[in-house]
Amino acid sequence: MFRVKILSKCAFRRKIRSRLVLGIETSCDETGAAVMDETGLILGESLHSQKEVHLKTGGIIPTVAQRLHRENIGRVVQEAMERSGVTQSQLSAVATTVKPGLALSLGIGLDFSLNFVKLHQKPFIPIHHMEAHALTVRMLQPVVFPFLVLLVSGGHSLLALARGIDDFLLLGQTLDEAPGDTMDKVARRLSLIKHPKCSMISGGQAIELLAQDGDRLKFLFKPPMGAHYDCNFSFAGLRNQVTMSIQKKEEEEGVEQGTLLSCVNDIAAATQHTVASHIAKRTHRAILFCKAKGLLPSCNPTLVVSGGVASNQYIRKTLKIVTDNTGLHLLCPPSKFCTDNGVMIAWNGVERLREGKGILSHTEEVNYEPKAPLGVDITAEVKEAAIKLPPLKLRIMD
Ligand code: KG4
Ligand code: ZN
Repeated sequence: MFRVKILSKCAFRRKIRSRLVLGIETSCDETGAAVMDETGLILGESLHSQKEVHLKTGGIIPTVAQRLHRENIGRVVQEAMERSGVTQSQLSAVATTVKPGLALSLGIGLDFSLNFVKLHQKPFIPIHHMEAHALTVRMLQPVVFPFLVLLVSGGHSLLALARGIDDFLLLGQTLDEAPGDTMDKVARRLSLIKHPKCSMISGGQAIELLAQDGDRLKFLFKPPMGAHYDCNFSFAGLRNQVTMSIQKKEEEEGVEQGTLLSCVNDIAAATQHTVASHIAKRTHRAILFCKAKGLLPSCNPTLVVSGGVASNQYIRKTLKIVTDNTGLHLLCPPSKFCTDNGVMIAWNGVERLREGKGILSHTEEVNYEPKAPLGVDITAEVKEAAIKLPPLKLRIMD
């Protein structure tokens, strides 16, 4: 079980003695801020989500995201500070996401942070968003390096080995889109926003909800990349297959695009299963590769799963089959910490502060980077190893 540490009155004295970090996140569609002490205690946090706005427009419009970050960042940071009871002068550093992400969104967080550190004369810690996702689990329990990480969300899809707070080996990543993005697009194509149960939730959540009452065997989609013995992902081909099936059904039922089909549950179930088994197979191969190369510890080897898609219970159960079969320990932080927030950035700042890594007293050279790979790319080596998977039934009993 995870234990989330939140501020209590008796922690107040400890809070003052410890170094404190303000974390700021604006890389995509969440404006987040949090104040944390060196032990990982969350002193105060605030989060403004733009998801509802983007749901209505059918996707993120970067200029809209930028405007919403600009409108909210001052309030969100102020709220986190007020809730923490900490003054600016008590902060030891400010940590902010500078890569990767949407340029216009990253720019707002970085400009705000650079002004803030200049005004209050604080050190600045630039944060890699994916590193922050990968390390969040260590805020909740002591997971030692090295461990395997699977990050799956609307913007990311990758497998990496975490060897240290700034030391990652990239084993595989998506060649086209991320699984959350695929499920969001399928949900939009199915017009699930018109479904009474799905109007206020993300596409991925809608797919999971509807799949519970669907029969996945009514639609058989070809699993992606079956002949590629690596750990990369691809979801665009699956999306094409789903779109074609939807078109066929619309023709059969004689309805226009935009009408809710009678078979939405079955399509959701088949889509979810194909996404889950693709993710599970790539993860299975990553585990076998790490074992073959002696990259995982023999004692308590761990797979950490994070990102918005990690909150999908069907995907978690599928991954559990893989980790049970390979002797790994599966850790999925609670959904609140799987998705973007200021807390994970503050925690990454704390980890860096503790190790004295990447703490800047001069910020003239700092810039944001929309594209930034995670760690050392060994995807070619993984491909060359061409590990064939032993048969494993990925059948989930609902
Ligand atoms: O991590 P996140 O909040 O934002 C980034 O993309 O960085 O993830 C959001 C994504 C969306 O694509 C959403 O559809 C997906 O995660 N998602 C899910 C579930 N909850 C959120 N996908 C599948 N099942 C879910 N339960
Ligand atoms: Zn993220």
